[in-house]
Amino acid sequence: MAKDDEQIQIHNHKHKKMFIGVIWNCASELKLLLSTLLFLCSIITLFQIFPVRDLRGCAAFPPPSAVTTELIASPPLVQTKELEDVAVDGGLIKRTFNGYGTAAYNFILMSAYRGGGATFAVIGLSSKPLHLFAKPTYTCQWVPHTATVSDENITVAGYKILPDWGYGRVYTVVVVNCTFPFPVGEDGSGGRLLVHASTAGGGDSNFALTDTIDALVEAPGSVNVSRFDAPPEYEYLYCGSPLYGNLSPQRVREWIAYHVDLFGQKSHFVIYDAGGVHPDVMAVLRPWVEKGYVTLQDVTEEERFDGYYHNQFLIVNDCLHRYRFTTKWMFFFDLDEFIFLPETTIKNVTDSLSEYTQLRISQRTMSNKLCYLDDHPGKIYRKWGIEKLVYRDTKRGIRRDRKYAIQPRNVFATGVHMSQNLKGITIHKTEEKIMYYHYHGTISERREPCRQLVNTTEKNVDGTPYVVDTTMREAAGAVKRFELRMIGPVLQNTHQ
Ligand SMILES: *[C@@H]1O[C@H](CO)[C@@H](O)[C@H](O)[C@H]1NC(C)=O
Ligand SMILES: *[C@@H]1O[C@H](CO)[C@@H](O)[C@H](O)[C@H]1NC(C)=O
Ligand SMILES: *[C@@H]1O[C@H](CO)[C@@H](O)[C@H](O)[C@H]1NC(C)=O
Ligand SMILES: *[C@@H]1O[C@H](CO)[C@@H](O)[C@H](O)[C@H]1NC(C)=O
Ligand SMILES: *[C@@H]1O[C@H](CO)[C@@H](O)[C@H](O)[C@H]1NC(C)=O
Repeated sequence: MAKDDEQIQIHNHKHKKMFIGVIWNCASELKLLLSTLLFLCSIITLFQIFPVRDLRGCAAFPPPSAVTTELIASPPLVQTKELEDVAVDGGLIKRTFNGYGTAAYNFILMSAYRGGGATFAVIGLSSKPLHLFAKPTYTCQWVPHTATVSDENITVAGYKILPDWGYGRVYTVVVVNCTFPFPVGEDGSGGRLLVHASTAGGGDSNFALTDTIDALVEAPGSVNVSRFDAPPEYEYLYCGSPLYGNLSPQRVREWIAYHVDLFGQKSHFVIYDAGGVHPDVMAVLRPWVEKGYVTLQDVTEEERFDGYYHNQFLIVNDCLHRYRFTTKWMFFFDLDEFIFLPETTIKNVTDSLSEYTQLRISQRTMSNKLCYLDDHPGKIYRKWGIEKLVYRDTKRGIRRDRKYAIQPRNVFATGVHMSQNLKGITIHKTEEKIMYYHYHGTISERREPCRQLVNTTEKNVDGTPYVVDTTMREAAGAVKRFELRMIGPVLQNTHQ
């Protein structure tokens, strides 16, 4: 079933590509041809009584796009006929090689967004070996809805960004930046962005196979370019990584309440569900969705394609471009991480660093199993994770991952730990102003995180020194009160 569907899709793609090529090269001839056919059809419909067998089928003519594909009798691009070995002469046998199908798609479109009057970002996946060992190219074309005489062939080379540091698997992430020399579709007349993705002989040097991707369609009147200069709606927007697995509702509950409290009224949280938002997790998010703080994106389809970490790099780039003009700052970190400001408010921090496009945020690593036993052990299970997991890993000389925040209008593609395609400056030393606590893995388990109860201020486990750090524990009380004030007691009985 699935295989058949895919084959049909591939066929449609090829047909579309040829269709566009022909339309472009001989638009006037085609119009003439179509009008002639249409005329013929009308005649036949009117005079069906005439027993002209061969022309009858014409009366039930398919829509124009299908028509043209049938009209184009170009040879197939890839040799599909089986070849046989041939004995040439003098004992020389010319061996043949027959190709069947393709192992990974040339391009899988996730999304395309306008980034101004003349520029677009197209986000998708593409065969990794193709990008690693060959040089596939992208060409962008703008096709206005209403073809007028003044319309030119608005075709530019697409600028390809591979933001995933070579982490890809079968697929790698591609962001194609399509920037035209002048604004397109700005007058609100509508149009389409096509991306022609060429393998440039990467898969078979005999063929520069090109697939045409219908990346974006703008209906007439749907574009308002002034939004690209308007002040953003939000101050802070969180872009989440794809969530998968059996997540702990209680950990998610703590995380969202803590961060809505921290980021404040002009903030928004975009959560991508790759299968991890099961009903119990949905239950803790719903009150915040209803309050307008959270948007959920269902990206479970993405799981069909084997990329790095549930296509995390794809998802963050979708988020970047989808919300690029709706927020002043964008934060990228995970649900087992808690942003912490040593001294002041988030607004004071970002205002004081507003000259930077990107802020790197360093990590405080917390134990995910040592718990602080300062009162009755029976009560510890009712405490929040951030209250009881208070042992901080103080091992020196370890490179720890960082997370980051950006001013997205200056960023063109992004990654998991930082963004490398941006305009402006990155600040790396920020730990006096902003940090994050990392409770690695605690979110992905639905059981009590405490494995060992400790009552000392220091503890050494397998050579790793831990010290008590009660910063998050002290913040928990205010967060609990904040949650109660904002959404009431609906989540009081949430489980691990
Ligand atoms: C449009 O431009 C592209 C790229 O420059 C070129 O390959 C194509 O032949 C052009 N088509 C027409 C009709 O000029
Ligand atoms: C494409 O790249 C150009 C040049 O770096 C940049 O000005 C533009 O904003 C980018 N467009 C998008 C949609 O990212
Ligand atoms: C276009 O967007 C701007 C800024 O977001 C807004 O003020 C204006 O009303 C919009 N215009 C139309 C016609 O929607
Ligand atoms: C934030 O900055 C303002 C203005 O600089 C200052 O008055 C205020 O005390 C700061 N707030 C905090 C909590 O540091
Ligand atoms: C800490 O725990 C140990 C054993 O778990 C116990 O013997 C000791 O009394 C405890 N100390 C305090 C101060 O609670």
